[in-house]
Amino acid sequence: MARPGDPVTFVAPAISVQGAVAVPGDKSISHRAVLLGAICEGETVVRGFGWSADTASTVHAMRALGVGVEEEEADVLRIRGLGLQGLRAPEGPIDCGNAGTLVRLIAGILVGQAGQQFELCGDESLSSRPMERIADPLRRMGAGIDARPLGGIEYELPVASAQVKSCVLLAGLFAGGETTVLEPVPTRDHTERMLRAAGARLRARPGRITVQPAARLRLGEVVVPGDISSAAPLVLAATLLPGSELIVTGVGVNSTRTGFLDVLERMGARISLFNRRSAAGEPVADLEVTHAELVATEVEPEEVPRLVDELPLFVLAASMAHGSSRVRGAAELRAKETDRIEAVVAGLRAAGAHVSGTRDGFRIRGVPTRPRGGRMSAAGDHRIAMLAAVCGLASRDGVQIEGAGTVAISFPGFFDLVEAVARRS
Ligand code: S3P
Repeated sequence: MARPGDPVTFVAPAISVQGAVAVPGDKSISHRAVLLGAICEGETVVRGFGWSADTASTVHAMRALGVGVEEEEADVLRIRGLGLQGLRAPEGPIDCGNAGTLVRLIAGILVGQAGQQFELCGDESLSSRPMERIADPLRRMGAGIDARPLGGIEYELPVASAQVKSCVLLAGLFAGGETTVLEPVPTRDHTERMLRAAGARLRARPGRITVQPAARLRLGEVVVPGDISSAAPLVLAATLLPGSELIVTGVGVNSTRTGFLDVLERMGARISLFNRRSAAGEPVADLEVTHAELVATEVEPEEVPRLVDELPLFVLAASMAHGSSRVRGAAELRAKETDRIEAVVAGLRAAGAHVSGTRDGFRIRGVPTRPRGGRMSAAGDHRIAMLAAVCGLASRDGVQIEGAGTVAISFPGFFDLVEAVARRS
């Protein structure tokens, strides 16, 4: 969808990508560090915070609730926690901007602030996204019913969603008894890891996570790894362009997030992980990527949560691979910042790729040469804008992107980094 007045950014074809780069701190972990730091005792220092429009919404929201959040350095925040029950309702609504993670997770915390009422709002895209998925479990816990403490529940997720899981687990901190979330397919587990680091009593076995009510939490320090979802467009560009050699340092490689690397490797990509280490309970590594020819593959429903945000990039990879590929079980893409099935199909077709959408995924006919290029709309969605940029690098004629500025939702410096690694002569 083109929006009136969207400026157009041109990404010219590149011969290869070269260099060693770092990407901003993980968005999922940055949101969680601020939200959890706010309800901890004492100060939490967040290092490697990934500033973006979305995470800025989280900082503003917590400040509106009375939490002191100071910027010590460009990517270091100091949060003065108010304890589990210390948040104070502001005069007006709390603006969550475009951030789905913020609105879903903060709701789990706000229902625990006894005797207070909060109103959450967001932009047009966020306001049209499904919220019943959190309202239902929170209601079952007794939220919204005055003068009654929350009750613990056992809740089976109807959709594989880390945001809904996290919302229920956070609300569980405030409940009268234990809260269990059953998840049919594993989703990102950053909340579980951070809750443990903060001293919450949490038991996790495959498919079943139980949290006990908390008396107090303390985080101290969170070191945020680089965002694998922000590294992914660069990883794909290096894979697609002959002669490429790219290193991305300090990337979070939590196995609930590395599905895109696994799927690309299955297609023949050359990606190595080295300098493996851990930071604040999360695995981290440097990635080295060189060009490789790709062969088609099928992405099955069970693996979708491990690459949910990278599926648009997968479709581009598959469209340049040998053979036909398919994605199934990804209907959740229709409930993201935009309908990502529609946006990917419209965009990549406009650039000459052979892609079609299904109810819950894609069918892709691979053509292992550069797509023509053309004009693509970001459809107001940061991940679609980044897809269009990689498509431009890998294309014959380049891609004009309408509304490319939306990359700032997760990665404000994206285009500068692309231009820093792109070789054109
Ligand atoms: C996120 C979970 C995923 C993902 C989103 C971030 C998180 O959403 O798409 O970008 O930080 O928990 P869902 O929980 O809706 O699948």
